[in-house]
Amino acid sequence: AWSAATAERELLLAGPRSFCAGVERAIETVERALDRFGAPVYVRRQIVHNRHVVQDLERRGAVFVEEVDAVPDGSLLVLAAHGVAPAVRAQAAERHLRVIDATCPLVAKVHHEVRRYAARDRTVILIGHPDHEEVVGTMGEAPDHVIVVAGPTEAETVQVPDPTKVGYAMQTTLAVEEATETAAVLRRRFPTLTGPRRDDICYATSNRQAGVREIAEQSDLVIVLGSQNSSNSRRLAEVAEAAGTPAVLVDDASEVELDRLAGARRIGITAGASAPPALVDELVRCLSGLGPVSVTENGTLTEDVRFALPKEVSQP
Ligand code: F3S
Repeated sequence: AWSAATAERELLLAGPRSFCAGVERAIETVERALDRFGAPVYVRRQIVHNRHVVQDLERRGAVFVEEVDAVPDGSLLVLAAHGVAPAVRAQAAERHLRVIDATCPLVAKVHHEVRRYAARDRTVILIGHPDHEEVVGTMGEAPDHVIVVAGPTEAETVQVPDPTKVGYAMQTTLAVEEATETAAVLRRRFPTLTGPRRDDICYATSNRQAGVREIAEQSDLVIVLGSQNSSNSRRLAEVAEAAGTPAVLVDDASEVELDRLAGARRIGITAGASAPPALVDELVRCLSGLGPVSVTENGTLTEDVRFALPKEVSQP
């Protein structure tokens, strides 16, 4: 075990970190739905990919379900931040559910791009992780037109019906560098490729990756707060490791193994876009309990993105 009789430990907090505007909006949507309409409020899938967020909302009366058919007829259903395929909305309508859509507007934008390409009969190459809920939902907009590629290697070999009619789109939470590389391969192979004016990776994903890279370069260990099924949190740990610093992804301070802290004098800390800011405070408190620490806020970038709430919960 780690002994307290060592030099002061430095904690370097990455900026920006933790909640993005899409996650804040999704959580507030469920909270307001509970206030306004009362429990139970059903939510399809995890509202955002974080265990603490889900448990907290469960305590307040939210009921998380895998699929729409688990929701009683006529109930209130919130759709999670990752977005859904149109087929899911159709199922909800069939069951006469009252639906409030908490899909992040930046995910909705990608859905829109896919619909637009498909309407012009283009093949859409969607760069992303095929099993991720966001990708499943985006693909559902035009299943016959979308081909998912995970990275540059698959981009080299993907086959399309007409190479002159191809567009591409992306999952919002990818690793920025790899996704750029993948898009470059596609552009080389399909010179008339059309794509989003700016890549689909969202501001929160790219800012958090830039932030963690900075602290990783100065740290002996990086701790990323986030759940294992959170794509953007996993990418943060990968970016830190790519910068040459070991990284751990943990749900909260209790999961940090003391052995990992041995010899780590400078510890970088960040949190995924779905991880509550309070988890960072708690981790700092726990580390302070082990011995003297200094805490430094890193990063100068500020985010002022805010999204309007869905109308069902925003109107007075
Ligand atoms: Fe939206 Fe990006 Fe957050 S897509 S939910 S702002 S991580």
